[in-house]
Amino acid sequence: MDDSHMFPMGYSDGDVDTNLSGNTPFASIVSERYSRRQTMFGGVAALTTAVLSTSLLAACDDDKEGGSPNVDAGQDAQTNSGRVVALTGTTGGDPDSAGWEQVSGPEVVLTNADTATASFIAPSVADSTPLVFRFTATDARGRESSDESTVTVSPARLGFEAVAKSLDDKVIVPEGYSVTVLYRLGDPIKAGVSAYSNNGSDSDFDGRAGDHHDALYYYGLSTSGNGRDDNNSNRGLLVMNHENITQDFLHPSGPSPAPRPEAEALKEMEAHGVSVVEVNRDAAGGWTYAQGSALNRRVTPLIEVDINGPAGGSPNMRTRFSPDGTAGRGTINNCANGFTPWGTNITCEENWAYYFRRDYGDDAARTPAQATALSRYGVSEGNGGNFAWTTVQPADPDNTVFSRWNATVDPGAADATEDFRNEPNQFGWVVEIDPYDPSKAPRKRTALGRFGHEGCWPGLFTAGRRPAFYMGDDGRGEYIYKFVSSTPWTESDAQSDDRLAIGDKYLDEGTLYVARFSADGTGVWLPLVFGQGPLAPGNADYSFQDQADVLIHARLAADALGATPMDRPEWSAANPVNGEIYFTLTNSNASKRPLNGTDAPNPRHYNDLKEGDDQFGNPNGHILRMKEAGDSGEASGFEWDIYAFGAGADLDPNNVNISMLDAMNDFSSPDGLWFSRPSNPAGLVNPVLWIQTDDGAYTDVTNCMMLAAMPGQVGDGGPVTITNVGAGGAMASQATNVGQAPGTNMRRFLVGPKECEITGIDSTPDGRALFVNIQHPGEDGNSNWPASQSDNSASSRPRSATIVITKDDGGIVAL
Ligand code: FEO
Ligand code: CA
Ligand code: CA
Repeated sequence: MDDSHMFPMGYSDGDVDTNLSGNTPFASIVSERYSRRQTMFGGVAALTTAVLSTSLLAACDDDKEGGSPNVDAGQDAQTNSGRVVALTGTTGGDPDSAGWEQVSGPEVVLTNADTATASFIAPSVADSTPLVFRFTATDARGRESSDESTVTVSPARLGFEAVAKSLDDKVIVPEGYSVTVLYRLGDPIKAGVSAYSNNGSDSDFDGRAGDHHDALYYYGLSTSGNGRDDNNSNRGLLVMNHENITQDFLHPSGPSPAPRPEAEALKEMEAHGVSVVEVNRDAAGGWTYAQGSALNRRVTPLIEVDINGPAGGSPNMRTRFSPDGTAGRGTINNCANGFTPWGTNITCEENWAYYFRRDYGDDAARTPAQATALSRYGVSEGNGGNFAWTTVQPADPDNTVFSRWNATVDPGAADATEDFRNEPNQFGWVVEIDPYDPSKAPRKRTALGRFGHEGCWPGLFTAGRRPAFYMGDDGRGEYIYKFVSSTPWTESDAQSDDRLAIGDKYLDEGTLYVARFSADGTGVWLPLVFGQGPLAPGNADYSFQDQADVLIHARLAADALGATPMDRPEWSAANPVNGEIYFTLTNSNASKRPLNGTDAPNPRHYNDLKEGDDQFGNPNGHILRMKEAGDSGEASGFEWDIYAFGAGADLDPNNVNISMLDAMNDFSSPDGLWFSRPSNPAGLVNPVLWIQTDDGAYTDVTNCMMLAAMPGQVGDGGPVTITNVGAGGAMASQATNVGQAPGTNMRRFLVGPKECEITGIDSTPDGRALFVNIQHPGEDGNSNWPASQSDNSASSRPRSATIVITKDDGGIVAL
């Protein structure tokens, strides 16, 4: 813990430029002070006493001629960007007024400037920078005295003490931080919806928080009204995904068996999707959400959506609901996210395939190409479909919200416009939502490809350059993609009122690429363009018909191009300073990453024993990063290395715990990944990388967690050759490229409650409130969180929830 922001009880002569870097010998400072102040003290020892004690000042300053109010601005100090600095002035007598002003240095906002005790948050600086403040007091006769002090601000660094691993049923954060539970499963957001009873009796989920809170993003609102203000840190909209449900907790005694009751299935569907909910900071710094806000919205799997981009209107998208294939219903299994600078949210459809039923024998009713494609995406013959929604017999026989999840070809249907055989093709997309306009239907952006979309995070936006979005396909052995828009970025588009039209401009035309990695630390982006190479009708494994076909079947296209299979690509994040792209590769197992099946970007195969059971493969995952050629998202090539390997601190430091993690930062299965906003005081100097885990491998030792790091850059380490050890002691050698070990620049910041995953993260623009989602606590029935955060209510059902983390002194979280 660094206490440099705390002022000692101080003495400082404003006339003396105390040099805190140590370049000026102490004796010379003392002699300078000594001569100017003409103090009554007789020696260095006495003066040293004065430096440490304000109680002597009155005596000292009373010596001054004229009898004006004697003032002292305190000792000079040094601090780091983002920390709260208290300025404490003292006066010799009883002044009529006293206050602080800034004299020089980067401008800050002074709180309580018209008192003797002001404070400010140290601004972002790239180098050590002095800020001078003047303290002035006026006595009853109007006579003024002032004194100055200098606060030298150095670049941001992590400013918290790491927390230990934990198996408690609580969210644990560092000393000096607080947790508020903000928005829980079932909390009412629409006016008139009752408080959640949390006993399974509640319905109305299109007016309540959904389940399994996942990725989130904060959209600033103006102080009043419904307008957009990107810089407002006191009022905003949280847009968050509700990835899945824990079915047992949604009903009084768990789910009823098939055929499922209509009301139960409807509730389960509506507990999926996306929330848009207004949140507010009150004067005391506390956070609440606003039930009944006009902007509150649930995007459920039932609302109408538009299908934009090259696959809109494709014959493969036609359904009974949308015979022309340009519309659909809702979004499901929304995992990670993205944002746009024009103020919209991107939500991503991940494990959508398992919601679909497809009966045995269906392959025979389809073309071989369709059967190949459905199987490649996991919509396999014999799937029953999650939660058996297709077994509902709705009261209205024309209601297809349940039967739509049955992708089996209906023998009585003349073609795809009379059943839901193509419904699976309507999922697996990224979906753009305008959070500021609940009347607008979300738009599925098919130019960005169809797969198990984890997230879709933009690289840096540069005027005149075509923006890129980075995407992971979360499956063992799936790929890393990027989409590069056809349209160069124009800054003025950021503030358009027709945000989805701007989305049309940048997201409906462009090129989708997939990554192929080379062992030498380079890689290339392979374009998924119809007619190029194997992406043509003559391709033996799958005959591509047009660009829509390539996009709908992006996995097949990437297979054909020879993309590199990865250890489950999860979130991506863009370093706001240098544009480098980070990807979590959460883990893999022995069948998908066998001893002799490693490669440089997925280099490990090892065993991590869990309660005596083997876990071979890469059970702890790693974090890879890429530097685009020319630092441009338009590039066709990149360099890469591995920023950090997940591992228990007890594992082999040469071949498994290669990043040399210790008890204060060891982790497993990284998933969520996010760089703090550059608008907070870490700024464009040392932005904080947040890492969240969704782990099952190390959970005998600790619950899932979140770490904060200040990473270096691609190439700050070097080549390493490791020895992998498989079952029976068989060994294999693997060369890779490893970044500099993170050391204390990576620290565990949070541990979650039992059986949760930590996911979803954003902050207010000022970085003083951090929003984090706790997903599925107690998924195996062993948690009472969030009730357990403040009491031991053993009867409370666990609930996914959004928490707010604040620093008790009001400073920037993590700094
Ligand atoms: Fe929904 Fe891959 O996590
Ligand atoms: Ca995830
Ligand atoms: Ca996950």
